[in-house]
Amino acid sequence: MVKLTDLLASTWLIPLASGASQSFLTSTTTSQPQFTIPASADVGAQLIANIDDPQAVNAQSACPGYKASNVQHSPRGFSASLQLAGKPCNVYGTDIDSLALSVEYQDSNRLNIQILPTYVDASNASWYLLSETLVPRPKASSNASVSQSDFLVSWSNEPSFNFKVVRKATGDVLFDTEGTVLVYEDQFIEFVTALPDEYNLYGLGEHITQLRLHRNSNLTIYASDDGTPLDSNIYGQHPFYLDTRYYKVDAQNGTHIPVKSSEADASQEYVSSSHGVFLRNAHGLEILLRPQKLIWRTLGGGIDLTFYSGPTQADVTRQYLTSTVGLPAMQQYSTLGFHQCRWGYNNWSELADVVANFEKFEIPLEYIWTDIDYMLGYRNFENDPNRFSYSEGEEFLNDLHDSGRYYVPIVDSALYIPNPENASDAYPTYDRGAADDVFLKNPDGSLYIGAVWPGYTVFPDWHHPKAVDYWTNELVIWSKKVAFDGVWYDMSEVSSFCVGSCGSGNLTLNPAHPPFLLPGEPGDIIYDYPEAFNITNATEAASASAGAASQAAATATTTSTSVSYLRTTPTPGVRNVEHPPYVINHDQEGHDLSVHAVSPNATHVDGVEDYDVHSTFGHQGLNATYQALLEVWSHQRRPFIIGRSTFAGSGKWAGHWGGDNYSKWWSMYYSISQALSFQLFGIPMFGADTCGFTGNSDEELCNRWMQLSAFFPFYRNHNELSTIPQEPYRWASVIEASKTAMRIRYAILPYFYTLLDLAHTTGSTVMRALAWEFPNDPTLASVETQFLLGPSIMVIPVLEPQADTVKGVFPGVGHGEVWYDWYTQTAVDAKPGVNTTIPAPLGHIPVYVRGGSVLPMQEPALTTRETRQTPWALLTALGSNGTASGQLYLDDGESVYPNATLHVNFTASQSSLRSSARGTWHERNPLANVTVLGVSKEPSAVTLNGQRVSPGSIGYNSTSQVLFVGGLQNLTAGGAWAKNWVLEW
Ligand SMILES: *[C@@H]1O[C@H](CO)[C@@H](O)[C@H](O)[C@H]1NC(C)=O
Ligand SMILES: *[C@@H]1O[C@H](CO)[C@@H](O)[C@H](O)[C@H]1NC(C)=O
Repeated sequence: MVKLTDLLASTWLIPLASGASQSFLTSTTTSQPQFTIPASADVGAQLIANIDDPQAVNAQSACPGYKASNVQHSPRGFSASLQLAGKPCNVYGTDIDSLALSVEYQDSNRLNIQILPTYVDASNASWYLLSETLVPRPKASSNASVSQSDFLVSWSNEPSFNFKVVRKATGDVLFDTEGTVLVYEDQFIEFVTALPDEYNLYGLGEHITQLRLHRNSNLTIYASDDGTPLDSNIYGQHPFYLDTRYYKVDAQNGTHIPVKSSEADASQEYVSSSHGVFLRNAHGLEILLRPQKLIWRTLGGGIDLTFYSGPTQADVTRQYLTSTVGLPAMQQYSTLGFHQCRWGYNNWSELADVVANFEKFEIPLEYIWTDIDYMLGYRNFENDPNRFSYSEGEEFLNDLHDSGRYYVPIVDSALYIPNPENASDAYPTYDRGAADDVFLKNPDGSLYIGAVWPGYTVFPDWHHPKAVDYWTNELVIWSKKVAFDGVWYDMSEVSSFCVGSCGSGNLTLNPAHPPFLLPGEPGDIIYDYPEAFNITNATEAASASAGAASQAAATATTTSTSVSYLRTTPTPGVRNVEHPPYVINHDQEGHDLSVHAVSPNATHVDGVEDYDVHSTFGHQGLNATYQALLEVWSHQRRPFIIGRSTFAGSGKWAGHWGGDNYSKWWSMYYSISQALSFQLFGIPMFGADTCGFTGNSDEELCNRWMQLSAFFPFYRNHNELSTIPQEPYRWASVIEASKTAMRIRYAILPYFYTLLDLAHTTGSTVMRALAWEFPNDPTLASVETQFLLGPSIMVIPVLEPQADTVKGVFPGVGHGEVWYDWYTQTAVDAKPGVNTTIPAPLGHIPVYVRGGSVLPMQEPALTTRETRQTPWALLTALGSNGTASGQLYLDDGESVYPNATLHVNFTASQSSLRSSARGTWHERNPLANVTVLGVSKEPSAVTLNGQRVSPGSIGYNSTSQVLFVGGLQNLTAGGAWAKNWVLEW
């Protein structure tokens, strides 16, 4: 929850004397002046990123590559030895002479290619092998064979070892290293694959960037606490991409002719096929996209590539999740409600006021959150007794829970280490961990001391066999004092404000102020507003800009102009984990891996260095938190966790929020592509800080954003300390806009919940790119300004200020697809591929229902508990052929293993709608009404299971072609789905 990019660069990071920081730490300590960690503690070396370095050696021209020999075939593939084909180049490490190649056809739709050093021993195993306990490897299924595979692998030694992966069905070459050399060193691996002209790749996170990746981009992947800069490495590591290829099929001979999306025409017929590629590697990565090729570079580990044959995106995602990283965790029904948070909610009564305001303005609120403000001295698992006392908290939480609402606190990754000279500075959480010795160490075995919010800290060592139990125990103890309903797991990259260990000697200074100003402290007053604020609020904008200018003048520094870069020369046989010879374009100052994170030499109990597993810290913390919450709730309730740093597979435990975004229109814009990418990574429970985190928001941005996020699975408003308040009730127009969008969200909660269940049980996605639902339309390949929620709802948000229209496409309309406007319920008149101008005044978000869908709905209310007590409705949107279908999943909404579930299927055809249910969950609420869109002719009568529905409850509009059938309560009094039924009109 902090962004530091700008802060770190300035010299006003002088130790604060006494007063400045006091207001933020008032209750934490005595009246002693607080020591501020010097800014210099977090300044690393000035390295030059390899991609920017004019002196960088091109490994492709310097290195000899390998030759394969000793090829052994087996029913499931083959293996071979690879020997260095010439003099070692040792460009960014030490060349490995001898490698082992294994090609395994793991299933008809899955292929694994692994290249590892032939000789690995206990002393260096972690340099190359990623523990299978930490990140499982996909396994071959028992009936896998070469002949059953969708793939075919071929290889050659000319001019050096290279291989190709071909899709058998089309002969399409999916991966091809021909004409490039394999470089394999202890701190650097490079391999290159050819790609088609104008390729369509998605994924490779985590980045804030366009949905379809730019074909000339440098995608660094390395967990980093650094706000959300565009195109840079941020919190998570997901080395997975989806590759979609479009073709025209020759009508005469059936040949697939590649088609560039830029040259396609939405009214023509095309086909596509997609495949996925996962590199199982936890080291720092750099993926360079270039015209017609992709270059993989790693700072270590091995090559462990898995290919998924699709051939649709939905197939690829399902194959990746079910075989490799795991299906996403099922969420509680309530988590689909609205969440309100901010950094700067100062006490329980302030939270109570916020909740009361939501009630007063009748805006739905389900979860109220607290940031680090509630903690005693920013220490995990301890509340500030003055502002967030346990007794007052108990009262507040009882009332909150009675009202059907919930509470989530933040939990940080680091743990305070007490000041040894201050006998009253007791921290039992630390003591218990120290007794079990579960904290990260320096290479010499001493405790690794970092610095985060509380001052000097230690970090759980997730490789320690007792670490999960320790974490669990702490959460269990604390849960008895605070009845929280989930955990927001933060700072898990893992963030630390010293370069290297801060030094045990400094512990006597604890608690310490971070080495930068907190937002709102003198010198860091937030004057920033969204783009176009000067148009909507000229006077305030002028005064903010004057304030910003005078703050900038007061804090201006002279920066030295000459920068001397550090370049590391590899020493044969010696690894340099602090400054590896290849410098990834890491987003922290100087590209130094040690800046603003636990250093690469921090050492786990099994001897593994952070360098080899850096980006898995947050992933393991999420696992620990998941196990802990299972325990806290006696395995009765699904853990609800939102985490910042994620790795491939984190979705099985947690959701993710987009991190420290900005109160800017561009930040809202990119929240869509970030959300869609996380669907591919198996983390469907995604949401961005609505109205923006960093900087002040404003009415227009917050209005649009509250409406947009209403269609994201995780829906939370959150902002930074000291910025203006931005709860949806702060502006009249935002109240109305939020309620409008939330009425839709809360009405379709059953549909939303069904999508979560399908994601959890089958590996499908919740938010969907247009290209995924309409795989045969190349013109949709890069659409990122509109999206689908499941298969049936399309959202076309306004993403720019001062607009009252928005442009959108209606996919499939040339091929029989029908779209109904949510609000008017009439079919949209649109042409294929035409960017249609849609009226969208402030407060209106265009939403469409896809013909062919049946959406189960209940009545909107202020909490999800209330919605679940209302009668049902079905919105049946007929397709052009008069049919529709849909489904519904129900259970108690919270059990880990629900003992009763219900699956309902809806099918409409030939003027009838059928409901058939299976399962034992008893849904008591009746069906109130059915709305059918696209009914061309007025029915003479409507019956439910043969019984006539009273004509007075039936409405038909021949202009809009909407049939409304009400008055069904009595006919379904035993529960809407208790009996199978057919409605005929
Ligand atoms: C990516 O790296 C190349 C050097 O390999 C550089 O020329 C280019 O400017 C970088 N692209 C971006 C978008 O930073
Ligand atoms: C199929 O027809 C196309 C022209 O439409 C031609 O370019 C291609 O070579 C033909 N392929 C075969 C296998 O005959």
